[in-house]
Amino acid sequence: MYEDRIRCAALRGKITSAAQAALLIHDGMHVGASGFTRAGDAKAVPVALAERARNEGKPLRITLMTGASLGHGVDSLLTDAGVLARRLPFQVDNTLRRAINRGDVMFVDQHLSETVEMLRAGQLGKLDVAIIEAVAITETGGIVPTTSVGNSASFAILADKVIVEINLAQPLAFEGLHDIWIPGRRPHREPLPIVRPGDRVGTTAIGIPPEKIAAIVITDKPDSPSTVLPADEDTARIAGHLIEFLQHEVSHGRMPSPLPPLQAGIGTIANAVLAGFVESPFEPFTIYSEVLQDSTFDLMDAGKVTFASGASITLSEKRQAQVFGELARYRDRLVLRPQEVSNHPEVIRRLGLIALNTALEFDIYGNVNSTHVGGTHMMNGIGGSGDFARNASCAIFATKSIAKDGAISSVVPMVPHVDHNEHDVDIVVTEIGLADLRGLAPRERASLIIDKCVHPLYRDLLRDYYRDALRFGGQTPHVLREAFAWHARFQETGSMLPGQKVTA
Ligand code: COA
Repeated sequence: MYEDRIRCAALRGKITSAAQAALLIHDGMHVGASGFTRAGDAKAVPVALAERARNEGKPLRITLMTGASLGHGVDSLLTDAGVLARRLPFQVDNTLRRAINRGDVMFVDQHLSETVEMLRAGQLGKLDVAIIEAVAITETGGIVPTTSVGNSASFAILADKVIVEINLAQPLAFEGLHDIWIPGRRPHREPLPIVRPGDRVGTTAIGIPPEKIAAIVITDKPDSPSTVLPADEDTARIAGHLIEFLQHEVSHGRMPSPLPPLQAGIGTIANAVLAGFVESPFEPFTIYSEVLQDSTFDLMDAGKVTFASGASITLSEKRQAQVFGELARYRDRLVLRPQEVSNHPEVIRRLGLIALNTALEFDIYGNVNSTHVGGTHMMNGIGGSGDFARNASCAIFATKSIAKDGAISSVVPMVPHVDHNEHDVDIVVTEIGLADLRGLAPRERASLIIDKCVHPLYRDLLRDYYRDALRFGGQTPHVLREAFAWHARFQETGSMLPGQKVTA
């Protein structure tokens, strides 16, 4: 049984049901589960755990750590069953989001490269159980991950017990695609020797003592498809502004040709903008990113991308069937790494990445809010955007200039929550235009951002705000009483525009 999937014969006796495996998890435990942006998530044991919590009638609350977000509504199921006491480091689930914003679940929003670093240092408590989805277990007990590596390797290494979910729906052809590298202990840690996106520096399986594998569960559900929407006119315009900017940089010798490796963040906008590069005039380039979305494969098929390194592959249903069915076509041009490697400051700085991430909003001085709607309510989390922006050679933030049919301006006087501060942000771009903030003082940035990026509905209002702010002087002038007035107006009337009807 499953000889090709569980090649360590001694472990075949560990095969059990998801419900039995879930019994290894007790109230108050710290659990680390695989899964990164819906890819490679543990699909059976967390569901069985939710089921048990619903039926048992006694407290079963855990701290759940993952790579990033999960698919198949698992976060919803766990939230509804009351299982989640604490959750980190990222999520995109509506039910969980509501529980976080009610204060029912303590959500720790972390830079994705840092979770296992903190765990390793004992700062997040001891990890009791890891649940890892795998395509296979090798002869020596090595765990071969599926569509993501994320934090799986360190979770398996650091946990007391490991549950492996062997997913028969994930092609065995994934074996060999991963590159597992774990940093040494401080203070004698060696450099991370990646000097090109395609470098392989680790192993193809997660090496742990086989006796740590406490249970094996067989599953057969594919990953949840990605939910990103297709490109539209606005994202095409954003891509156009960026292509023009990058061409300009190359022609003035400020960027090499081929371009430095590109990173693109999660979500509809980054995916659509990257897909816009299919039509770009650039020589073929590489991707060193976190999530490889449909756009990566569009660019490979168009001959624009020669190699892509990521922590996960998250695709639409159609693309998933095509790519996973033809993995041989792509496998020499792909590698999946732990997220602390894909997002590693040392490598990002060395490679000189161009980092493209999405803002909910930015302000006239270039501070970016990517996480907190209205400054208070969690959207998804910072994800890897901070890892990349802080260390890239060019940190770009894109957003549409307005949201909710114009009731919200994505360019505001002052962001009510800062994820990426003015020191880390090089370029901001909307469908209206692009502002190159590099080397500019705050007053210069404000004028440029207002001229280039703001929707016409809000441009004069923002000009008026800035003119008033100048009366108060300062390096970064503000009218403090008015700085969040737009957000307050939205909260009160349903629109940032003055004189709009109350909707709530
Ligand atoms: N205020 C309130 N809501 C806003 C907003 C603003 N300023 N700007 C956008 N939104 C809303 C949109 O209306 C949309 O709402 P809906 O889901 O109800 O339709 C939602 O936010 C998503 O916006 P969208 O324009 O579709 O962008 P996206 O799918 O590209 O997501 C982020 C944008 C910022 C939410 C997403 O990129 C994110 O979570 N980023 C942080 C993590 C990150 O960057 N990770 C990448 C590292 S590799």
